[in-house]
Amino acid sequence: MADPLFLRACRREPVERTPVWLMRQAGRYLPEYRAVRERVDFLTLCRTPELVTEVTLQPIDRFGFDAAILFSDIFVPVTAMGVDVAFAPGPMIAAPIRDRRAVDALRVPDPDEALGFVGESIRMLRAALEPRGVPLIGFGGAPFTLACYLVEGQGSRHFTAFRTLASDDPALARVLLDRLAETMIAALRAQVAAGAQAIQLFDTWAGLLGATDWETWSRPWVERIFAALADLGVPRIYFASGAGHLTPRFRDLGADVVSVDWRTPLDEARAALGPEIAVQGNLDPVTLLGWWKTVRDRTDEVLAAAGGAPGHVFNLGHGILPATPIENVERLVAHVREATS
Ligand code: CP3
Repeated sequence: MADPLFLRACRREPVERTPVWLMRQAGRYLPEYRAVRERVDFLTLCRTPELVTEVTLQPIDRFGFDAAILFSDIFVPVTAMGVDVAFAPGPMIAAPIRDRRAVDALRVPDPDEALGFVGESIRMLRAALEPRGVPLIGFGGAPFTLACYLVEGQGSRHFTAFRTLASDDPALARVLLDRLAETMIAALRAQVAAGAQAIQLFDTWAGLLGATDWETWSRPWVERIFAALADLGVPRIYFASGAGHLTPRFRDLGADVVSVDWRTPLDEARAALGPEIAVQGNLDPVTLLGWWKTVRDRTDEVLAAAGGAPGHVFNLGHGILPATPIENVERLVAHVREATS
């Protein structure tokens, strides 16, 4: 059987039609996900391979997406570093990491020992996905974005705490980013060893940074992680939100695919990235809350901007919103299929 469409599109090989999956495709907009969450809390769900498998497959079996993404969170490996993280629903750090002692206390966990449930989930998922012909994406958080939460203690509009630490004590900020990068390299290599066929690195808050600060506080660690995955031969996807001003800088990051948010048209992203990087995206997730006719028109605009050249994976520009009507997702998938075959 030929390689799945998603993997071929990531490698910029020709495809019969554009593959489609959605960030956060397993989540609260699905009644069957909410039913599981009534029984278990979010972290218990992430740590139970049978349940991870069940919720990862929910959107695959309902909509027929062309890729599955491991159900987990960018903070799961961080819990194994010795950080107390709760979810409400976003991550809450019990003791924000703000000084030398807190940074020194962070462990770089051995994923086989501390994150065995992730490997087990991936093995179960691959066995279930193989007959469906659907590939599995593993993922992690980029050090800058993880550090934003760890130092702030929770989500924030500006994430001033990490950015102030970086300015006041750059050496300490670098030790923190190093520790996070080492953890992510081991965790992501373990995901691929267990069977993940592509890796997406989420640098959600990178767009907060000006170009010079992104070069200083995000790029070096992202480059290090992508370089450390190069020998595994799986597509490496970089996602940053609100990062249109940075897109030309993603050309030489080591990413094979750049996931573009809805603010930057895909033709502009392609021009900035050059012909050797595939693009993923980029319908505005808010569009899915409106009338189908608008969803269809905007989807056609995304497909037109992606153009006919190989190397496009259809997705949203950020995660699907909990209020999204299921019917719009069904029609979206059918429309992308029909319009591109
Ligand atoms: O895409 C998928 O279906 C895979 C699962 C996934 C989750 N989180 C599950 C989740 C992925 C890839 C993530 C990544 C993640 N987590 C990011 C980067 C991507 C992004 O969306 O920006 C970030 C910043 C986090 C941290 C995080 N975890 C936040 C901000 C939240 C609250 C989100 C919200 O929608 O309210 C979470 C919790 C979380 N992670 C949920 C899910 C399904 C909601 C948990 C629940 O209550 O059931």
